[in-house]
Amino acid sequence: MISKKMQDAMNEQVKAEFYSAYLYLSMSAYLESIDLPGLANWMRVQYQEEVTHAEKIYDHVIERDGRAIVKSWDSPLTDWESPLDLFEAAYKHEQLVTSLINKLVDTAIAEHDHASQIFLQWFVNEQVEEEASVKAVIQQFKLLGDSRAGLFQIDRELGQRVFTPPAATQGA
Ligand code: FEO
Repeated sequence: MISKKMQDAMNEQVKAEFYSAYLYLSMSAYLESIDLPGLANWMRVQYQEEVTHAEKIYDHVIERDGRAIVKSWDSPLTDWESPLDLFEAAYKHEQLVTSLINKLVDTAIAEHDHASQIFLQWFVNEQVEEEASVKAVIQQFKLLGDSRAGLFQIDRELGQRVFTPPAATQGA
């Protein structure tokens, strides 16, 4: 059974993952509003991934005979100065999530919760990928500049991203 302290920390992370989902859906909506459907698609996929992250942690709490609590979150921002500004905000947000995951691992270690430590390793690896994928988009913006032609090219490329539901054995 999961300890109360670990359970509460996991429930807080469920909230943070759902906040991430909401933030990325808000970013997707903004990108739609400035006619960049490919970038909007990329963020929509990001939103879908965050929902799976939240559900994965929620399921872990229940599987360990804990009490999952779903909490509300603040409204995310709705506007950004530019697509680059938006992706820089997403990068900063992923760095914050990485620090939250690291703290969660610290709690699992302090609680001698080996099952949670192993479970969280997937998230530790995922954060490396999450930060790298947002950073790659920022680098594309910096390479191509903010010309309409550059934006059009990035928009076309990012429009190819497809959400792949995670395999049950691999987690989210
Ligand atoms: Fe669930 Fe983007 O971290």
